Amino acid sequence: MNKKRALITGINGMDGSHLADFLLEKNYDVYGLERRSSHINRDNTKHIQDKVHFITGDMTDKGSLQRALYISNPHEVYNLAAQSFVGSSWQLSEQTTKVNSLGTLYMLESILAHNKEIRFYQASTSEMFGKVVETPQTELTPFYPRSPYAVSKLYAHWITKNFRESYNIFACNGILFNHESERRGIEFVTRKITDGVARIHLGLQDTISLGNLDAERDWGYAPDYVEAMWMMLQQDENYFFDNKVGDFIVATGECHSVRTFLDLAFKKIGVDNWQKHVLKDPRYMRPAEVDVLKGDASKAKEVLGWESKTSLEEIVSVMIDNDINLIKKEIK
Ligand code: GDD
Repeated sequence: MNKKRALITGINGMDGSHLADFLLEKNYDVYGLERRSSHINRDNTKHIQDKVHFITGDMTDKGSLQRALYISNPHEVYNLAAQSFVGSSWQLSEQTTKVNSLGTLYMLESILAHNKEIRFYQASTSEMFGKVVETPQTELTPFYPRSPYAVSKLYAHWITKNFRESYNIFACNGILFNHESERRGIEFVTRKITDGVARIHLGLQDTISLGNLDAERDWGYAPDYVEAMWMMLQQDENYFFDNKVGDFIVATGECHSVRTFLDLAFKKIGVDNWQKHVLKDPRYMRPAEVDVLKGDASKAKEVLGWESKTSLEEIVSVMIDNDINLIKKEIK
């Protein structure tokens, strides 16, 4: 049987690399769109560099997306490329909108022109719920975005839905709640904490500077979540259209504060009283905050048979072990 082909945008990011691992395991031909810069960061994909077909492209350059589709001729496209750091989206609002909103539109238009049969996954986000109007959040909860990032993702969400309804394409939004792994970028709070705690453990620093410790998130494990992305695109076509299945929440259903994350991280290195190691720094506070996110993934369980498998304790533990090892290598 011919191998299935998938094109992943944002291949070198946390999600892109975990999805590539997953699809390679499933014997897909994996194509990855990456931006050309003087330094390409393939830290997350170097272990599969020989297996992935990398294609140079940029979400803001429609011609490059058309070219990527022509080269890969995919059955499935996973749109994971984004300016994904909420905190920077106030300073980079135009860039965030171009990549996240227009980039998604360009990809959808390119798919329509190339082959309407391509199945499309869009990385939507719980940030769209922002100032939440109900808890837990479901697929029916109204949105209230609180950052230029969330607003840009809301456009991408609706244009994906609109193309599905206008042109009958198999397009699905995964509304993913926060998900972390040892490949998370250092600017996100979980990795910032595990890296900082690992450095404190190794005697390399004393403190970590953070912003709002009271924010609460529904944190899952990225490798579990990429499986949900794939499952969304494997649904029976008739079932998907006849039942207007639409979009999916992907979440653990549990909510924890940044403080609890700190508790777990410091406990892992045997420190109970961590307060003296954490400094509050106004630079990391946001102009508008999303206080509490908690998702209800019942639909994903019912329709796809998907459930989150990894506990927050396990996630923290894997991330800290990984950071300790990385730092030990760095200082050798
Ligand atoms: N980054 C960061 N740095 N966040 C901090 C800090 C800090 O020093 N101190 C406290 N926080 C708080 C933030 O204010 C926020 O409420 C929470 O920690 C989580 O921040 P991030 O880890 O940056 O993630 P996020 O929730 O804003 O966004 C992530 O999850 C979204 C899904 O809901 C990103 O992955 C988004 O791309 C994704 O859409």
